Amino acid sequence: MDNISLDYSKSLVEEYELENIWPYVKTAHKLLHSKSGQGSEYTGWLDLKNSIDNEEIRRIKETACSIRENSDIFISIGVGGSYLGARACIEALNHNFYNELPREERGGPKIFFVGNNLSSSYIMDLLDLLDGREIAINVISKSGTTLEPALAFRIFREYMINRYGPKEAVKRIYITTDKSKGILRSLAQREGYTSFTVPEDIGGRYSALTPVGLLPMAVAGIDIDKLLQGALDGAEEYSMDSEENISYKYAALRNILYKKGKFIEIFAQYEPNLHYFAEWWKQLFGESEGKDKKGIYPSSVTFTTDLHSLGQLIQDGGRNIFETTLNILNPRRDMAVKKDEEDLDGLNYLAGKSIDYVNKKAFEGTLLAHFEGGVPNLVINIPYMDEYHLGKLIYFFKKACAISGYILGVNPFNQPGVEEYKKNMFILLQK
Ligand code: PA5
Repeated sequence: MDNISLDYSKSLVEEYELENIWPYVKTAHKLLHSKSGQGSEYTGWLDLKNSIDNEEIRRIKETACSIRENSDIFISIGVGGSYLGARACIEALNHNFYNELPREERGGPKIFFVGNNLSSSYIMDLLDLLDGREIAINVISKSGTTLEPALAFRIFREYMINRYGPKEAVKRIYITTDKSKGILRSLAQREGYTSFTVPEDIGGRYSALTPVGLLPMAVAGIDIDKLLQGALDGAEEYSMDSEENISYKYAALRNILYKKGKFIEIFAQYEPNLHYFAEWWKQLFGESEGKDKKGIYPSSVTFTTDLHSLGQLIQDGGRNIFETTLNILNPRRDMAVKKDEEDLDGLNYLAGKSIDYVNKKAFEGTLLAHFEGGVPNLVINIPYMDEYHLGKLIYFFKKACAISGYILGVNPFNQPGVEEYKKNMFILLQK
């Protein structure tokens, strides 16, 4: 099977620089795998094989199947790591206009996300869609105390009880939370809601391949077995303590570039439905590395759209950036440009070429221009954006992030800085 590959021929990094950093990569590998590094209590995702609970997977599939049959709308309530993995995968793998497709083509409910902001308009606009349709909701929060999902859950749970009555609502409310701790666990036990477990030793942004991400994905029709198989193969491949390990090489290259003053990494891709994958990637690296006054600022662009907004800055602005492009070698769909007899738009030079061919030439042209403009470029090639390769890619980035964080000398598994705004907000709210 074609594999994910890393091309760093335009990274402006010399081989000797990779050799120099490699001892640090090896130390990071040891710290991670011996569970002696900072935050090791949250590395349950590392040994993926052992972290998969087959009974929980069976329950997820069974639950997803019944939600797909009896619901028109599925609402996933969560924020940060309890939100982005599911949304990233659902959007990356499904039709660009999934919610707009006829029910028969979707084969399951429309999917909406809430609890990831505090916008009253957003919440009320979503409530407008619900009457007259069958609804299922899944609140996802490891702690159960995060304000955004807690507030949304209060509102949507009340809607469900008013709409269906307490007994029927129980059958349509699903909780994903800690095994034994927290308000949501108590609520699930008291009310009898079907619940799923966020493993204690896996933090939010590393939890996409747990029930946190898997239930919403299965409801959206994603084959979670294939996704997990890709990740399992990734876990094996990206655990090699070897210079062949491209996940480690990516971590090493990022750190070399950071030390050379490239403080911003731009994650670029050429498919609009990867927007949320980039959001997931940004959260993973931003929350894991940005601490102790260190860290690369993770940013993202969707090309070619953003070539018409940020392209100028990337080409010609401050030289403190590097780019990492996710290049999908074979698109999910493609079509040829037809010949037009009149050729009024002057596009006949493209006749017979496919749209994806044009997209790829835009990528190649951009890569060269940015490289020549002094922007180091890393390219991650992925043969297909399907469940298998996406699962593998998720593991690739998780592993790279952990190794990169240890090379940088930070704890990649905590997020102490996130508490600061909350303290102020709660004082202002007179909690
Ligand atoms: O990655 C993280 O740990 C965070 O982004 C959390 O996922 C986010 O804050 C949500 O936390 P919780 O699941 O406890 O509601």
